[in-house]
Amino acid sequence: MNPTLADKIAHAPKAELHIHIEGSLEPELIFELAKRNNVKLAYDSIEALRAAYAFTDLQSFLDIYYAGASVLLTEQDFYDMTMAYVERALEDHVAHTEIFFDPQTHTERGVSIATAVAGIEGALAEAETRGLSSRLILCFLRHLSEEDALATFDEALPLFDKYAHRLIGVGLDSSERGHPPSKFERVFAKARERGLKLVAHAGEEGPPSYVYEALDLLKVDRVDHGVRSIEDAQLVARLADERIALTVCPLSNLKLCVFDDMTKHTLKDLLDQGVRVMINSDDPAYFGGYVNANYFAVVDALKLSDKEVYTLLRNSLEASFVSAEERDGMIARLDAHWKQ
Ligand code: ADE
Ligand code: ZN
Repeated sequence: MNPTLADKIAHAPKAELHIHIEGSLEPELIFELAKRNNVKLAYDSIEALRAAYAFTDLQSFLDIYYAGASVLLTEQDFYDMTMAYVERALEDHVAHTEIFFDPQTHTERGVSIATAVAGIEGALAEAETRGLSSRLILCFLRHLSEEDALATFDEALPLFDKYAHRLIGVGLDSSERGHPPSKFERVFAKARERGLKLVAHAGEEGPPSYVYEALDLLKVDRVDHGVRSIEDAQLVARLADERIALTVCPLSNLKLCVFDDMTKHTLKDLLDQGVRVMINSDDPAYFGGYVNANYFAVVDALKLSDKEVYTLLRNSLEASFVSAEERDGMIARLDAHWKQ
């Protein structure tokens, strides 16, 4: 890539809207927390753990990701994990981030949702003073039952009030195939009644019909991944028409074998057809790079132009769940930077 464009991307103010905070746990921190909390890991060194990061599909990743998250027990652990991500986001000139967390991964081990949110909030409040604004989105694990999601939502209700400035939405993640969005229609309806923002992973490994379900049954505001939408021309036209954002994660797609080569990524086709795609890191500690690395990888492989990169950056700001005033302020900063 031309070094001027790389430098422009690196320093551009941007939003990251698809980052699982548990996926930012670097192996070094996993080992540190395991030692602190006396948690036994299946790997005896940082190198052995890192060597296991050779994934063949989404499930092969999730198995290791949930094992990694098992070291998180205290509020301090959630704070440390989040603060480490904040440092990386600031390095990449992320101006605003919307972070996912998976409460069911923790409640299963006896860690309350309140503990997780308190730790994450501590770090995000501090990040705010350093120029990184943020929101938090609670994700339901789709491989678990609807009842489990409903119980999780009920347990989280007081937190949606206490942290109303931060905890603004719900999402849906984990094993996609065999767990269509329709399974969670009722819990999403409850979240919608409370005025929460709604997102769902769909069309990552799952078919375009899952994207339709996310839109029509869950009534999501954004679709996470959504790259398989390209298989359905009518769906692409609708996404473009309704200005539905897709939070695309290029390095994740490559590592989880959604595409066997970055040059085959459908991001540019979606962009060409007017879909509001934007770039994210998903689980950066596992997929080999934070958000800027994702921009570099896709810009290089798909030979994106200066104008296309600007559109991706602008889309990231336009698709965020901030006030119109905050959004316009960030867009003005991007424009000033891009013109330099
Ligand atoms: N949880 C963490 N990363 C995920 C992904 N890429 N897809 C589904 N669930 C996830
Ligand atoms: Zn994801």
